[in-house]
Amino acid sequence: MITVVIGTQWGDEGKGKIIDTLATQHDIVARYQGGANAGHTVVYNNQKFIFHLVPSGILHKHVVGILGNGIVIDPASFFQELTDMEKQGIDFSKRLFIAQNAHITLTYHKILDQIEDAKRGSGKLGTTGRGIGTTYTDKYGRIGIRVSDFINESVFINKLKTALELKNYLFQEYYKKSIISVENLADEYSKYREKFKEMAIDTSYYLNQAIDKGKRILAEGAQGTFLDIDFGTYPFVTASNPISGGACTGLGIGPKKITKVIGVAKAYTTRVGMGPFPTEINDEINQTLRTAGNEFGATTGRPRRCGWFDAIIVRYATVLNGIDELIITKLDVLSGLKTIKIGVKYIYNDQSVDIYPLDTEIFENVDVEYEEMQGWDTNINNISTYKDLPTAAKKYIDRIEELVGTKITAVSVGSAREQIIAR
Ligand code: GDP
Ligand code: IMO
Ligand code: MG
Repeated sequence: MITVVIGTQWGDEGKGKIIDTLATQHDIVARYQGGANAGHTVVYNNQKFIFHLVPSGILHKHVVGILGNGIVIDPASFFQELTDMEKQGIDFSKRLFIAQNAHITLTYHKILDQIEDAKRGSGKLGTTGRGIGTTYTDKYGRIGIRVSDFINESVFINKLKTALELKNYLFQEYYKKSIISVENLADEYSKYREKFKEMAIDTSYYLNQAIDKGKRILAEGAQGTFLDIDFGTYPFVTASNPISGGACTGLGIGPKKITKVIGVAKAYTTRVGMGPFPTEINDEINQTLRTAGNEFGATTGRPRRCGWFDAIIVRYATVLNGIDELIITKLDVLSGLKTIKIGVKYIYNDQSVDIYPLDTEIFENVDVEYEEMQGWDTNINNISTYKDLPTAAKKYIDRIEELVGTKITAVSVGSAREQIIAR
């Protein structure tokens, strides 16, 4: 039994919180794509945990965490996270595994990511600078270094030599930067090798055996549908497939093993980094939402751009991902607004566009037609029964459900584990 949890917007929908909540009923939580660009927040017992590579279900002692083959793993970032977890008193020994065939992110990937994005000038993507795109580029260019290569020192050094030959040429001749020495890099990363040896397994085999034994698995997506390399707002996207289909290739499981797809959507929309965002709010409400929702990147700390709920993109996401049910997060953040808008239709060249256009040129230039809903004044953070929500809040959820065409099964009204209401 595999449930895939994905983001239906541009990331930061609250996937971490939802995974943590659902993990109580699951045995394994497995990340399938992305890398340390992700920042998944879990608030438990008034303590805040931000996961970048480690699956967000790890706080539950019975959960086994898997970093699947579709992930790119930065050993330095991973170790920092493990150290932080130890400091926060989380015992993960013998229940955290990494895929032998996942690719690893090294110093040069991070440097290249940052200088390549800076070089794009006004066309910059605003990447997280975590070396994500550059690691996937090497993976598909067949010069990547996998976990199994990394744990074998001589193989690692040979592969490093090959990879660095061209990188150093670029650094020196094109970017006018200093070159990276194979020896120094190999030395710098050697401290991570033993831990990788302990944790590296064939995660696909492990998961398939677990499926046969009837274990319940959560596949945790990072980023969101519109950051997907194929279906997102290209080129303003990440370098992997956050969509539910990515779980098959990123974990090595057959599509028929997936039993449920849960979409997570914020009650409004946010985006970090550059790229088109039709429902972005250009008045003081942008700031109101940023403050109320604490909309600052969990990885980079950058302020997130805020906008109204866009029903067109979320409807597209439900179809693309085959979403069975939707969970709406951060409904509490909208409390106090007099009116709340929902983007229901795009207009391009005086024509109505009902479906999210894959052509970014069009998407960048659409106008949005909105519906206005009445807001509510009451604080809803402590409400635990759906019927106790203000009528206007329930009407807002009903309307979203109608527009998106998928059942909304729960709404989240705060960052803590218990602040979730079944509908
Ligand atoms: P993710 O990347 O999808 O896991 O989301 P992030 O962790 O980057 O961002 C979501 C932020 O919203 C985090 O700070 C969460 O603690 C917080 N959050 C999640 N659900 C809710 C909610 O229902 N209400 C409020 N106010 N905050 C929430
Ligand atoms: P979670 O999992 C929001 C955005 C970056 C940038 C673009 C490409 O926390 O939802 P990258 O470093 O991936 O090459 O950057 O993607 N981005 C995210 N935005 N949430 C994320 O992850 C993101 N991961 C990447 O801001 O616009
Ligand atoms: Mg995030």
